[in-house]
Amino acid sequence: MPLAGTFAEAAGELPEPLRLLIRDEVGSTNDEAQKLAEAGAADGLVVIAERQTAGRGRRGAEWFSPPGESLAFSLVARPGEPKPMWPRLALAAGVAVAEAIERHGLAAGIKWPNDVWVGRRKVAGVLVEAGRDFAIIGIGLNVNTLEFPPEVAETATSLALETGEPSDRAETLVAVLRRLEVRRRQIGGDFPALLDVVRQRCVLTGNAVRLTTSAGARQGRVEGIGASGELLLRTPAGVEAILQADEIRMAD
Ligand code: BTN
Repeated sequence: MPLAGTFAEAAGELPEPLRLLIRDEVGSTNDEAQKLAEAGAADGLVVIAERQTAGRGRRGAEWFSPPGESLAFSLVARPGEPKPMWPRLALAAGVAVAEAIERHGLAAGIKWPNDVWVGRRKVAGVLVEAGRDFAIIGIGLNVNTLEFPPEVAETATSLALETGEPSDRAETLVAVLRRLEVRRRQIGGDFPALLDVVRQRCVLTGNAVRLTTSAGARQGRVEGIGASGELLLRTPAGVEAILQADEIRMAD
């Protein structure tokens, strides 16, 4: 793909029905996309911003995305599948990012359910938020960042840190969106195919972890990913299916 350049040029490289709306500065691209969806924006609108003044991660955490160095964008999706399947979009987005960044020769893993890791560090995060008849898929990807704030300095990485050279952000954006266009269609009947890839890439499988669910803290060993995309955790009480968890920490 010989694109090297600006987001405006990237707009012309996207598959149907994706359209790119480029903003200099917003609070959060997820909020911007949500407003547009509520006003009737069709499936496939992608809002990208150079600067987010209130970019956020899961559980309301701040998301660090320095202008000129990273990618922060959100897709309006109107899936045909029933709403209980929409959380699978987070898996689809993680897989899309992992596949796209492998163009750089990096081995990318999924830290279930929302993070993309290179080595043991986070290179991208996904925030899926559902509205009444739409879902917003927000993706933050560290592309050329070389220094992170102290809070995440030990756990974050970027494509540039991993490859030793800067990457073209517009090219990377197109690569992610092309994969996302394929993977987001697999949350229904084709979900087993998406699951296969999640299972191959899941960095937690086989590892001891500590996590917190709405039912309390858990500690155990991850056996894998179940048929609905849930995490299978072996604890002294047996195998528990984890549907949602706050921060998951490796215990080994
Ligand atoms: C996480 O790892 O906790 C999720 C991070 C998601 C960050 C992206 S950046 C684009 C979009 N806009 C936001 O405010 N958040 C998401």
